[in-house]
Amino acid sequence: MHCFSFLFRRRDSPRNRVPEVDEEFSGIHNVKLYSYKELSIATDDFSPINKIGEGGFGSVYKGRLKDGKIAAIKVLSAESRQGVKEFLTEIQVISEIEHENLVKLYGCCVEGNHRILVYNYLENNSLAQTLIGGGHHYSNIQFSWRTRSRICIGIARGLAFLHEEVRPHIIHRDIKASNILLDKDLTPKISDFGLAKLIPANMTHVSTRVAGTIGYLAPEYAIRGQVTRKADIYSFGVLLVEIVSGRCNTNMRLPAEEQYLLERTWDLYERRELILLVDTSLNGDFDAEEACRFLKVGLLCTQDTPKLRPSMSTVVQMLMGEKDIDDDKITKPGLISDFMDLKVRGPPKPKLETTTSSTYNSSDNPDNSNLSSAATSAATMTFTVSYDRST
Ligand SMILES: Nc1ncnc2c1ncn2[C@@H]1O[C@H](COP(=O)(O)OP(=O)(O)O)[C@@H](O)[C@H]1O
Ligand SMILES: [Mg+2]
Repeated sequence: MHCFSFLFRRRDSPRNRVPEVDEEFSGIHNVKLYSYKELSIATDDFSPINKIGEGGFGSVYKGRLKDGKIAAIKVLSAESRQGVKEFLTEIQVISEIEHENLVKLYGCCVEGNHRILVYNYLENNSLAQTLIGGGHHYSNIQFSWRTRSRICIGIARGLAFLHEEVRPHIIHRDIKASNILLDKDLTPKISDFGLAKLIPANMTHVSTRVAGTIGYLAPEYAIRGQVTRKADIYSFGVLLVEIVSGRCNTNMRLPAEEQYLLERTWDLYERRELILLVDTSLNGDFDAEEACRFLKVGLLCTQDTPKLRPSMSTVVQMLMGEKDIDDDKITKPGLISDFMDLKVRGPPKPKLETTTSSTYNSSDNPDNSNLSSAATSAATMTFTVSYDRST
């Protein structure tokens, strides 16, 4: 294809340099190409001081671009390198997508072996660092009920857009608190959509961290690797309950019956006491009817049978109170801990990598030699995940 041709020129060719904005790049619209040099300057040579995070795909730096814009610069790790043509094809798809609740991709850099993505920088970090997972310490943001409700509906809209309006549909595969970024007005923006396709196929199997974070994984995805929109909807349901309750989906420091958020939600639902799950830091200042409705939508989304989970556009209507929820129709959530009891493997070498706040870590599981309890086996799965990735 003509539009990619210059990228395949020999490395030593003087014409090999990627132009800043490339007119020659006619097949690729809307994708700004950055030179490695510009991104180096923007991040002070990718200085650790400018590093703002690290995830399954690589490291993220904050930087100031030549035009003055502040950007989040994501350097994809060596394993996630893919051919220039495939890379640009996917980038093109991502960069054409615009929605109030989706992070905007500015452009990328594909010089030599480098694969770098340049995104709009969002001031208020992610939900993982602010609201969920003990992150309260790092931010002063008070999440009122109004704000939470806006955030939940915003995320639902963004995901409904990816699932139902973008052609072909995009399945996110990694909906979780750290992929929900907040702008200066606390408008939620889903990040990392379309990224699953930038990773070589052999890396997107469920045994890798990039394919999702344990507590958010739909059982059918975790067990059989079935990737459908319903798996995203499950993850969204977990996130929804996290936002209402202000806690992470798994917390091994709580009493046994409260460790798994979905299990706890189901218990309280059966006892008609869902209201007890709402974040106590709101000091009772919330719309009780709305909060319980949100929790029920969370339960609908996390049902074990994928078919029973509502579509994201239906979820938006339910959250907004435009569509009633039939209480009798809610069935028990699918829980990974249920099947992990059956599927415990021998203890793999515990090779821990840097984990995000929403994944388990060794301190949650001081005794991983005992594989009998559900809690331990869930934690073991994280070891397996890290372990599999390195083999
Ligand atoms: N556009 C952005 N604006 C501000 N911060 C960002 C942006 N993109 C990513 N980050 C930060 O970098 C961290 C790492 O991102 P990422 O590599 O996607 O890993 P993960 O999503 O697993 O945390 C995020 O948790 C977030 O704090
Ligand atoms: Mg991310």
